[in-house]
Amino acid sequence: MKGITILGATGSVGTTTLDVVGRHRNRFQVIALTAHADVEGLLRQCLDHHPQYAVMVEETAAQRLRVRSKQLGLNVQVLSGKQALEDVAKLPENDCIMAAIVGAAGLLPTLAAVSTGKRVLLANKESLVMAGQLFMQAVREHGAELIPIDSEHNAIFQCLSSQERHGVRRILLTASGGPFRGWSQEKLRGITPAQACAHPKWSMGRKISVDSATLMNKGLEVIEARWLFETPPEHIEVLVHPQSIVHSLVEYADGSVLAQLSNPDMRTPIACGLAWPERLDAGVQSLDLCALGHLDFEPPDLITFPCLQLAKQAAQAGGSAPAILNAANEIAVQAFLEGQLPFTAIAHVVEQTLEQVFPSNPASIEAVLECDRRARIMAAAAMARVAA
Ligand SMILES: NC(=O)c1ccc[n+]([C@@H]2O[C@H](COP(=O)([O-])OP(=O)(O)OC[C@H]3O[C@@H](n4cnc5c(N)ncnc54)[C@H](OP(=O)(O)O)[C@@H]3O)[C@@H](O)[C@H]2O)c1
Repeated sequence: MKGITILGATGSVGTTTLDVVGRHRNRFQVIALTAHADVEGLLRQCLDHHPQYAVMVEETAAQRLRVRSKQLGLNVQVLSGKQALEDVAKLPENDCIMAAIVGAAGLLPTLAAVSTGKRVLLANKESLVMAGQLFMQAVREHGAELIPIDSEHNAIFQCLSSQERHGVRRILLTASGGPFRGWSQEKLRGITPAQACAHPKWSMGRKISVDSATLMNKGLEVIEARWLFETPPEHIEVLVHPQSIVHSLVEYADGSVLAQLSNPDMRTPIACGLAWPERLDAGVQSLDLCALGHLDFEPPDLITFPCLQLAKQAAQAGGSAPAILNAANEIAVQAFLEGQLPFTAIAHVVEQTLEQVFPSNPASIEAVLECDRRARIMAAAAMARVAA
């Protein structure tokens, strides 16, 4: 039996992970599940998977979960607060930790998981975007086994695993293009959160759905790939592939190109991460290429979707630039989701924040967090200017 803790269990990646785990109850034992405030969601998961610990970040939510679990006779220890996220990530019973909290809030718990030297399944790409160098340094120092869960990076991981990395010429990251592929900037002006969250191929949390619609998600993934695969950003290319069947490709010096294909279903990369190097039945349908008929590829539209270009520039600039980009994006996306900022203004807020926060070379995680804090203040000011 392998012990697994899921950070961000009630989200899209968290629930999909439990779907895969639930198909193999003889192989996995759930040790801890965490959520921010979704009491009923976490309660349902506790009833189904019987973890030893459940964490709610909000204390009032934790109180409600304690009452509800007692009423239902559940034997689970309910913890609360940010520190509890790190504590359960470090439990000795864990063999594997799924890092699936959304945004910068995932950085410290994911680093806590890394510090155990265990297998870490990385969905929280923002950790690597904010603190790539320090994060990978911690992975090496603690001997953690890092397996990417983003479908693109998991595809690259699979294409690289038995190969010599020095023979890699290029990484080709595929992108679906999001719900507004082919649209003009003019048409994007009145986009609502509901439209932005209606992704044509993937069902995901709201923040990553908006990032996919602006193409910022692909920019964050370029930065993620840069650190995961020790590849300079100029050797990472983005390719729009609307069917989302080819999840990414690796080109080698001899001209060989390896790709990983599957239906767009997160259970595939999650099952790969859980079982690697073995393979698990993830409940995913077989791929029917004849039914698909064709696979299309096109270059991304960097004019209509400037966030991808901003992220590539931040990747090139290095230092704190990606952390500044990430913080500004989180602030702007949240404002858009709350109806306070137009969709097309997200890129303006990110661009202005990058122009106004002096980039540095953070030497510690504390310095990264300070940079994140300053960038959020500047992004809020940029938002006020954009709205004026
Ligand atoms: N969804 C996908 O298909 C997909 C694919 C690749 C990569 N990813 C990455 O995986 C991560 C999670 O994405 P998602 O789509 O699963 O997000 P999501 O559906 O929004 O779920 C986020 C999870 O994190 C918890 N959470 C939110 N804010 C938190 C905070 N401040 N502190 C602690 N926990 C917090 C949420 O708890 P509550 O439910 O209580 O709010 C929930 O459990 C993101 O980094 C995303 O980029 C997602």
